[in-house]
Amino acid sequence: MMRKARSLVTRAREVLATEGLASLLKRSIAYFIFDLTDYYLYELPIRELTEADYPPNLGHLDVRVVRSNQEAEELRASCGFDLCRRFVNAETMFHGGAVAVCVTVDGNVAHVGWVATNEEGERAISPLRQRVEFSRGEAFTGGGLTLPQYRGNGLLRYGSFARLRYLRSQGCTTLRYAVAVNNEAARKGLASLAPTVYAKARYLRVLWWSRWRETPLAQTGIDYP
Ligand SMILES: CC(C)(COP(=O)(O)OP(=O)(O)OC[C@H]1O[C@@H](n2cnc3c(N)ncnc32)[C@H](O)[C@@H]1OP(=O)(O)O)[C@@H](O)C(=O)NCCC(=O)NCCS
Repeated sequence: MMRKARSLVTRAREVLATEGLASLLKRSIAYFIFDLTDYYLYELPIRELTEADYPPNLGHLDVRVVRSNQEAEELRASCGFDLCRRFVNAETMFHGGAVAVCVTVDGNVAHVGWVATNEEGERAISPLRQRVEFSRGEAFTGGGLTLPQYRGNGLLRYGSFARLRYLRSQGCTTLRYAVAVNNEAARKGLASLAPTVYAKARYLRVLWWSRWRETPLAQTGIDYP
């Protein structure tokens, strides 16, 4: 409980510093009380990828795959980055089988993205209920975060490459994920992977009640921008 409160405070401070008070208030209301957000839903075949196609303009890069609280503790001991503090539900995510793929720059964690290869993991990563056929080799990703001081350097792209490479090693064939319609940075950062947008979805939550609706893009009458 204390750990969750500390994670929320860390995240709130970061939003305040990078996006301002209005955004912090808006996000707090969405987190605790009421959220109505539209998403684009994407799918991406997990092909063999070439690392050289995804280089950020940064220092020495490394990838750390973290699968458990124990490995999160090892990461914290080696570079001071506390995954369980940064992500409110990290312990539940590991418990559900979710995996954090972390990119380090000169030994410091700069980007984190979570992946799941089963429904329990997906539910632990995200409150959204995107349909994913895990039994057919599909995987889910969410919870992508580039630390503010590293943003705008292509790390979302590189981190996605690292996640795809990890999932390929696990035998997965397709990746599914959702990006909020108004999250331009995430949509742009992921565009170079050339994913297919197959649907739009609306997430509505009031306190503990929530609803998730997917509409195939052809039925929405909108053109994907
Ligand atoms: C979304 C997020 C992960 C992007 O990380 P990043 O490492 O800065 O992303 P990249 O540098 O790989 O790419 C970002 C792209 O968006 C653009 N961009 C950056 N900030 C932007 C903004 N506020 N508005 C519009 N575009 C923006 C960049 O120019 C870049 O475009 P380009 O590839 O055409 O040059 C990061 O902003 C973040 O952690 N946000 C908070 C958490 C979040 O929204 N997660 C959702 C992940 S799906």
